Amino acid sequence: MSFKTINTGVFTVRFYFFIYFQPNAVIVCSVRCTCSPVLLAAGPVTVQHRKIHHAVVPRGKGGRSSSSGVAATVFGATGFLGRYVVSRLGRMGSQIVIPHRCDQYDLMYLRPMGDLSQIIFMEWDARDKESIKRAISHSNVVINLVGREWETRNYKFEDVFVSMPQQIARAAREAGIKKFIHMSHLNADIRSPSKYLRNKAVGEAVVWEEFPDAIIMKPSECFGREDRFLNHFANMRWFGKAVPLIAIGKKTFKQPVHVVDVAKAIVNAIKDPDANGKTYALVGPNRYLLHDLVEYIYALSHRPYLAYPIPRPLYHLIARFFEMNPFEPWTTCDKVDRFHTTDMKYPDLPGLEDLGITPSSIEQKAIETLRRHRRCRYLDAELGETKAAKTVSY
Ligand SMILES: NC(=O)c1ccc[n+]([C@@H]2O[C@H](COP(=O)([O-])OP(=O)(O)OC[C@H]3O[C@@H](n4cnc5c(N)ncnc54)[C@H](OP(=O)(O)O)[C@@H]3O)[C@@H](O)[C@H]2O)c1
Repeated sequence: MSFKTINTGVFTVRFYFFIYFQPNAVIVCSVRCTCSPVLLAAGPVTVQHRKIHHAVVPRGKGGRSSSSGVAATVFGATGFLGRYVVSRLGRMGSQIVIPHRCDQYDLMYLRPMGDLSQIIFMEWDARDKESIKRAISHSNVVINLVGREWETRNYKFEDVFVSMPQQIARAAREAGIKKFIHMSHLNADIRSPSKYLRNKAVGEAVVWEEFPDAIIMKPSECFGREDRFLNHFANMRWFGKAVPLIAIGKKTFKQPVHVVDVAKAIVNAIKDPDANGKTYALVGPNRYLLHDLVEYIYALSHRPYLAYPIPRPLYHLIARFFEMNPFEPWTTCDKVDRFHTTDMKYPDLPGLEDLGITPSSIEQKAIETLRRHRRCRYLDAELGETKAAKTVSY
């Protein structure tokens, strides 16, 4: 080893020359430079504000073993939509933090969705601000998918759809996060008969207040294997041979969206630098009368379909009975109202196509969900046998 010192009066630079031999006989030469402590003290001090992990430096070919540069915290990842979002993020090589409140054995299915050590689980309590801050401290993207279809003793809709998004959005802003995606609902409206939808509308407003650059996703009812839409109507056969619908489903129009399209929309919004501050209305390609849609669900399930009209107050009375279930109620008054709300149209809002996604129709994907409702579960009858549901344009 040898070294040379250059003294300029103000600072001293010393170059060290190392020459050493490696076992495979390749001579390695390295040069190191040291500055005097005086210089170091005089220079501008760089303080690392956020502990950004090296995982956010993009590298690789884009597969699950590469690094996409996305380190995302996904609140509500243990739900229906969450698994699709985590899977999409994992397969492009992102680091994903999953705050959860359940037993870790209940989220084992999420573990293989990313490469080794790329999915990190941490416990969180929605009422503990510190746990929210901890969950987002290493991320550059925050996604809020927290939701609940019914109120519990501990958490009302105001807590889940207003207070929690507000806390998460505030923590994200304070932590300097650049992308915050909030999941709302297509029919979120302060005048809605559904308390769920009223609180979703308030939730959107508070998120914007806290995080003006937030991306708000407004999907209609999502369908997919584990959904609570197609499965809900298909399961109505347990309660008799006929399906109760308000006004026999002839006054409600629905435009359901495939859950995978919603997950793709979230991932594409992360990649799109122009998406910040925008609201997306995510709907399927076709619009149906609820009556025709349920008829199609039963046709595809190879079950007889008989719909009968039921007045809203009577439906609510029946739903109240189910609401007494301390676990997941099969239906609630709020769900009855939500399912009988016509899907809004937002011609001015960007949608799936603006994020580069071609929406999948219910005719293409519903079989994946409904095959298990068939009498002969493994019956592989041709899809073409079932007449597609009639679509409407209003
Ligand atoms: N599914 C749809 O058709 C649809 C349509 C439009 C909009 N959305 C919205 O999209 C979001 C995701 O929907 P989803 O169907 O995936 O919902 P989901 O299956 O009900 O999952 C909700 C997630 O939120 C978590 N969560 C609920 N309450 C919580 C609390 N008090 N503290 C901590 N975590 C809590 C759940 O955690 P646990 O597993 O621990 O309970 C779960 O991970 C929701 O905001 C929903 O309103 C859904």
